[in-house]
Amino acid sequence: KILAKTLFLGKEVIYMPSCHSTNDIALQMLKKPDIREGVVIIAGHQTSGRGQRGNNWKSDPDSNLTLSVILKPNFLQASDQFYLNMVASLAVQRAIQGGVDGQDMKVKWPNDVLLNEKKVAGILIENILQKSSIQWAVLGIGVNVNQKSFGLEKATSMSQVVNKVFDLSILFEKLIESIEYYYLRLRSGKREELREEYLQHLFGFQQFRNYRTEYVFSGKIIDVAETGRLIMETTKGVQSFDFKEVEFLY
Ligand code: BTN
Repeated sequence: KILAKTLFLGKEVIYMPSCHSTNDIALQMLKKPDIREGVVIIAGHQTSGRGQRGNNWKSDPDSNLTLSVILKPNFLQASDQFYLNMVASLAVQRAIQGGVDGQDMKVKWPNDVLLNEKKVAGILIENILQKSSIQWAVLGIGVNVNQKSFGLEKATSMSQVVNKVFDLSILFEKLIESIEYYYLRLRSGKREELREEYLQHLFGFQQFRNYRTEYVFSGKIIDVAETGRLIMETTKGVQSFDFKEVEFLY
């Protein structure tokens, strides 16, 4: 039973004990004529969860949150897509933060959330464009909540860090509320505020770290453009990078 205090988000929640990918289901649902924004699809288990760059998203059954939110951000131009990344990243970090107070939470450009510098959540946004505006958006979110161990060293879960078991439905409600909170701010035109808050929580902001593009370099993030390009100060001067062009080196 969902008790989220929201205006429109999560008023309809579809729970799938097991499915291939909630993003695929959401994209499929967009073909129905009566689809409305705010629908959430959540899975107990995904058999082929999808991640960024064509990767798989693996998640232990019934241990974590794997969900997709359907939005209709037709007030956004295709070139403003990155605002949805900001909304999703900030919402996820805010929801997790409440459960792991005192721990280091950061959003990582372009769409991860880090807990003590390890990945605790990933975001996969898929947009349906109509001409130059966004007609529909599917925000796919995977949060590592109660999973105990990971194949990847750079991954972690909330439970691994604070050593307790979390109630998935409470975290789900918080997440839905936070997504609506940031989405409504975006919809009411608070773009600059959102960008500033994103920068405040951004991993590597104003700090020198090592990155890799075609070569390894040291740089500090000084801004993220409206288009989502990462702007860095490096030994070669100010450079900007698109998704996939640069990667943080642990
Ligand atoms: C990433 O970090 O690579 C993004 C991971 C996104 C995973 C979520 S889980 C729910 C939704 N359905 C999917 O198939 N993927 C996203």
